[in-house]
Amino acid sequence: MVKAALRNRGRENPYLIWTLQQLYFQLLYVKLFKQYEKHGGRHMAATPSGDVQVAFRQAMRSIAATVSIITAGDRERGHGMTATAVTSVSLDPAALLVCINNRTLLHHIMSSTERFCVNVLAQEHQDLSAAFSGAVAPGERFALGDWAETEEGIKHLASAQARIFCVKKLAVPFGTHTVFIGEVDDVQLSDRSAPLLYQNATYCRSIPMASG
Ligand SMILES: Cc1cc2nc3c(=O)[nH]c(=O)nc-3n(C[C@H](O)[C@H](O)[C@H](O)COP(=O)(O)O)c2cc1C
Repeated sequence: MVKAALRNRGRENPYLIWTLQQLYFQLLYVKLFKQYEKHGGRHMAATPSGDVQVAFRQAMRSIAATVSIITAGDRERGHGMTATAVTSVSLDPAALLVCINNRTLLHHIMSSTERFCVNVLAQEHQDLSAAFSGAVAPGERFALGDWAETEEGIKHLASAQARIFCVKKLAVPFGTHTVFIGEVDDVQLSDRSAPLLYQNATYCRSIPMASG
């Protein structure tokens, strides 16, 4: 009844409808502002919406991580992609995991092949890292750097700080990524340790802290 009455009055007086609309928007604004203040205003804690993803990205950016190029393939096709999501899983058996975005070409290849290699980059490999993270097209990436190939067709970087050859044992999809666990069957090490690090979207080097 109230609505009908308002509709009739509104027809007679459009200004009344406009005034009520303004009042409604002002009340909505006050309600939203109060919620914003309640959660600490500009320092609002992350909520379980998109805000968590933004805060999560920021938190992850601040973690310094060693950069690797993961290679996979077979005799017909080979591919390599820059990654920092590489973690050791077990010592016996020796195993590691890599997290690969489901949308990448590497994910496609790793899903259908058995072996992969983690090429741990050294400080001088900054350009290679950029190339293998999208600056250079997949088909042209291996023209850069000193790549060799195993009998199975896995490319590996001769100047890498370490080359860790794995047999894929498990692929666990979770959200946007898949966790591939590989059992290590060969490790080739260089005699120096000067890893390429990545933190806050910048390449860095590790500097030992002064002792004492
Ligand atoms: C330093 C750095 C680290 C990265 N780490 C990962 C990672 O761990 N996993 C991942 O899926 N993508 C990672 N990426 C993004 C991929 O390298 C990038 O999306 C790649 O170009 C996509 O692969 P594709 O072009 O071979 O399909 C990283 C990129 C950079 C620059």
